[in-house]
Amino acid sequence: MSSIAENVSLKPFNTFGMNVQARWFAQAAGTDDLREIFSQPLWQQRNHLILGGGSNMLLTKDVDALVVHNLIDGISVVLEDNDYWYVRAGAGVNWHRFVLDCIAHGRAGVENLSLIPGSVGAGPMQNIGAYGVELKDVFDSLEAFHIREGYVRTFTADDCRFGYRESVFKHELRNQFVITSVTFRLRKKPDFSTGYGAIQQQLEKMGVQELSIKAISDAVIAIRSSKLPDPAVTGNAGSFFKNPVVSASLHHTLKAQFPDLVSYASGSEYKLAAGWLIEQCGWKGHRRGDAGVHPLQALVLVNYGQATGAEIFDLSSEILASVKQKFGVELEREVNII
Ligand code: FAD
Ligand code: EPU
Repeated sequence: MSSIAENVSLKPFNTFGMNVQARWFAQAAGTDDLREIFSQPLWQQRNHLILGGGSNMLLTKDVDALVVHNLIDGISVVLEDNDYWYVRAGAGVNWHRFVLDCIAHGRAGVENLSLIPGSVGAGPMQNIGAYGVELKDVFDSLEAFHIREGYVRTFTADDCRFGYRESVFKHELRNQFVITSVTFRLRKKPDFSTGYGAIQQQLEKMGVQELSIKAISDAVIAIRSSKLPDPAVTGNAGSFFKNPVVSASLHHTLKAQFPDLVSYASGSEYKLAAGWLIEQCGWKGHRRGDAGVHPLQALVLVNYGQATGAEIFDLSSEILASVKQKFGVELEREVNII
């Protein structure tokens, strides 16, 4: 088992670059490590925080808990039939590394999810999504370790109750399990998804003659790199808020008042582009000290260097209030506030 260190800076472990300390810090390379740590009454009693790539959290203060950094590695085909490969990846595998591995082996389904930061194990937490595909579309099952009772449980898609940036692990089962591996169902014959946003345009710009999962991945990477800040350069955690989903009647009222409103039908409801709402409130490119709103994507809050988590949080509260005041719509934070 890896040892448990005290008072460790989490700055290298979160993409906002917040320099807070973990009271205790351990790294787990497998279920055995988790069992060894959590079988001890001392660590059972203390609070814990499971850490992947730290790309979806805002650390607002020192973490007075045991932080367990998930390093569970490995990618392997566990089953194969005429149509699919079933590929299991350790929860600590870097998500984009997993995507590239799938592309290299001709395994289709995750190419639209290229370049999302973080780990495989955090993917199901909020059912990561981008460019028309969500993790649930390629999900087979996952294994998770129960922190208090020490058993490993297999979850099916139904068990996970995936929704838009939602799963059971953010609600009823919050803080109860460590996801240790995820098994994906990947197509042998690709079912290309190019309908979203600028993918088609980007493919044309790149002069792609024959569509492939590699070409889609390259297109997604190009689009993302053109508007999302690279956390290695500017601290951020991607979209800070979710795109709000509103009723058809509220959508109708808003559209009458704001004809340029950007929205998408989502079943009987409508998803509003939160970036547009925030931009309309004048926040895009706003900077106060080192806390700011990205000049190219208003949904992304950034740390230009020395901002504290509290400053970013306060900025997000002001944005929430102004969107509520102008549009009567309540934004919800997507980033986990710690
Ligand atoms: P962390 O930030 O480490 O953890 C997130 C949450 O999951 C925490 O509550 C943590 O305790 C919990 N957790 C982590 N691992 C485990 C585990 N193994 N078991 C149990 N709980 C766990 N997200 C999207 O959906 N789509 C995007 O397009 C997208 N783009 C992004 C772009 C940028 C530039 C950035 C910085 C972020 C973006 N994100 C996006 C958000 C982020 O990449 C994802 O949410 C990612 O899945 C987080 O992974 P992580 O390992 O960094 O999780
Ligand atoms: N828009 C603006 N101003 C802005 C930003 C966006 O007007 O400053 C409008 C534009 O009309 C644009 C539309 O909003 O066309 C949608 O913007 P974009 O395509 O950038 O996507 P998004 O809705 O802002 C969502 C996800 C992203 C994901 C992209 C691509 C959420 C909360 N965010 O962003 O996920 O990468 O779509 O699929 O659903 C994340 O979760 O961290 C994340 C980055």
